[in-house]
Amino acid sequence: MRGRQWKTRISVQESHQGRDQSGGGRRRVRVVCRRGRVIPQKRACYDLAVAVRIRDALLEDLPAVGLLAGRLVRLHHDFDPARWMLPDGIEAGYARYFASQLGRQGVIVLVAEDEDDHELLGYAYASLEERNWVELRDACGRLHDVFVIERARRKGLATALLRECLARLTSLGVALVVATAAWQNEQSRSLLTALGLRPTVVEMAKNLA
Ligand SMILES: CC(C)(COP(=O)(O)OP(=O)(O)OC[C@H]1O[C@@H](n2cnc3c(N)ncnc32)[C@H](O)[C@@H]1OP(=O)(O)O)[C@@H](O)C(=O)NCCC(=O)NCCS
Repeated sequence: MRGRQWKTRISVQESHQGRDQSGGGRRRVRVVCRRGRVIPQKRACYDLAVAVRIRDALLEDLPAVGLLAGRLVRLHHDFDPARWMLPDGIEAGYARYFASQLGRQGVIVLVAEDEDDHELLGYAYASLEERNWVELRDACGRLHDVFVIERARRKGLATALLRECLARLTSLGVALVVATAAWQNEQSRSLLTALGLRPTVVEMAKNLA
């Protein structure tokens, strides 16, 4: 990846909920990314060296996805260790958890993959949530995780991953989508704002022991 010129082509491989992951029934949507902005196009440009594919995570991706999820957990723990837990074996735990979620109705686990060398550049995880009376929140879709490796950042990958999550949630009939960002995570809040999400809740914490 290093030394290669970055692409402006991102393709999104979409499979509808309930279908298997063997490729049956998939339709491909191309997205052209210009100067960090991702714009759906009927026809994409193909004169660049590298391309990224956004697709559903497969079982064989999960060890690598677990590593990225572990980095996300450690990032949050570093923000505020007294608020964000860091259990032992977080990477393997995440891989096991995602393995239990793949293919479930309303669960979306996507990866961004370098089309040339198949390196995993990032992932996103979203799911449906039921009405929650404690939160006074109706049934919704929740964007849980998004992580992009450093050298692939600011190319529109997280935007493409989350836009695909939003498209899937929309096709599932979701009327509301929510996401939580750590107070210190300005890049996350900026990304979510750029995607049209608005601030709604502020969590406060105090450690009593
Ligand atoms: C946050 C993160 C997912 C962004 O991934 P990315 O692929 O670089 O994001 P994009 O290129 O799609 O950026 C889209 C927009 O998000 C915002 N953004 C992204 N990174 C930013 C940063 N470091 N600082 C400020 N804004 C940022 C910008 O508005 C950006 O648009 P622009 O490039 O036109 O200015 C990535 O930096 C990351 O993995 N960080 C660590 C994990 C994390 O914080 N995840 C989110 C919380 S779950």
